[in-house]
Amino acid sequence: MATLTIEGGNRLAGEITASGSKNGALALMAATLLVEGEVVLTNLPHIQDVYNMVEMLQALGARAELTRSGVLITDATHICASEAPADLVKKMRASFSVWGPLLARTGASRVAIPGGCDIGARPVDFHLKGIQALGAIVRNDHGVVEARADQLVGARIYMDFPSAGATQQIMATACLARGTTLIENAACEPEIVDMAQFLNKCGARITGAGTSIIQVDGVKRLNGVEHTIIPDRVEVGTFALAAVATRGEVFIRDANPDHCLPLIQKLQEIGAIAREDAEGIFFACRRTPLATDIVTMPHPGFPTDLQQPMGAVLTCSEGTSIISEKVYEHRFRYLSELQRMGADNHSENRTAVIRGVPKLHGAQVTACDLRAGAALTIAALAADGTTEIADVEHIHRGYEYFDEKLNSLGAKVTSDESMLMSEVLACLE
Ligand code: UD1
Repeated sequence: MATLTIEGGNRLAGEITASGSKNGALALMAATLLVEGEVVLTNLPHIQDVYNMVEMLQALGARAELTRSGVLITDATHICASEAPADLVKKMRASFSVWGPLLARTGASRVAIPGGCDIGARPVDFHLKGIQALGAIVRNDHGVVEARADQLVGARIYMDFPSAGATQQIMATACLARGTTLIENAACEPEIVDMAQFLNKCGARITGAGTSIIQVDGVKRLNGVEHTIIPDRVEVGTFALAAVATRGEVFIRDANPDHCLPLIQKLQEIGAIAREDAEGIFFACRRTPLATDIVTMPHPGFPTDLQQPMGAVLTCSEGTSIISEKVYEHRFRYLSELQRMGADNHSENRTAVIRGVPKLHGAQVTACDLRAGAALTIAALAADGTTEIADVEHIHRGYEYFDEKLNSLGAKVTSDESMLMSEVLACLE
């Protein structure tokens, strides 16, 4: 069990560079299984989930080498396995995204129902329905989903909810189907647009990514290319909110304002500064933040992944805020941990009421999931005294050099887990 110790009360100031997107990187890594030839992905973040996905690609018979500078070289020309190792799938939900590409390349694939953060029921029924609509025979064999198809065929697919993962899974798989696929009520996340751009560079024919209707005209094969992962908008939001919580000012180089609009809007509403320029975004807060209401939604709505970090800031705001969590039902468990630090909040089902308090105090708390860990860190940075956050393995699954970046901005954070990360890095070229 790894711990993060944070001495609160230090104002964050300075500049950091946004890391490559965790969610974008994982989706693209899975999609490299579709490609025959060498793919070079740059700007990959050094995080545990990426290491797990490298292992996954290797286990499936692809070549996958990650360098110290975040360059991943893959070659899936000779993939030889159709079954993803269950231990890797259990570690992170994103590993399920190899299911469709593996099927499209080998005619069969078996992947266990995935694990990952426990933030609510996370079914994969949209994935299953979509791949089935493309002509595959799909069955659930005691928790392992199996698909078979000699030839996938394009179809018109409507999704009940714009799921990011299912949109990526179906869009990627449909690239090698015969004929045209239409995905309706598709998710519009920037990571989906980036995936479509990557696949189109490889020779796919995808239009409409970033809108709710995506068209994929199938091609026979995809070829290797080089592609750079987009900056991580959730990491940008997390550091922006950490700056706001400490009344600090931080410039985040490479942050893309087009990907961060809901956050920028909400920050301005609570009295913080979010100023864009060609190189990134400057965030600052020179007053006690004001309360506001948040409703999480699929993109371009307020992202559920920033609900918890935002909740930490609202905990120390002036007034009462209401958060409606429309995407995941278990994303309020961090609120009871914040109560240990003096927060005043109450949640029921998908709604939370947060009454701002003038000051939080350090305490011993536990990160129950990745973004909860980020929220507790933000609260700890703003609190009086020292906070110990347990179970921070969650944080290192998703944030690159988390404590190093915070410390470069003037925070006082120590982590036993970061030593492990440095050891891992030392083993890379
Ligand atoms: C991705 C992100 C995650 C983010 C989420 C929503 C990755 C690795 N993770 O997760 O950080 O919080 O988008 O922005 O990219 N659903 C179903 N059936 C399905 C699929 C989803 O009911 O087959 C539901 C989910 O339970 C959830 C909602 O749809 O309530 C959205 O999930 P989805 O967009 O699929 O999230 P992920 O792609 O898993």
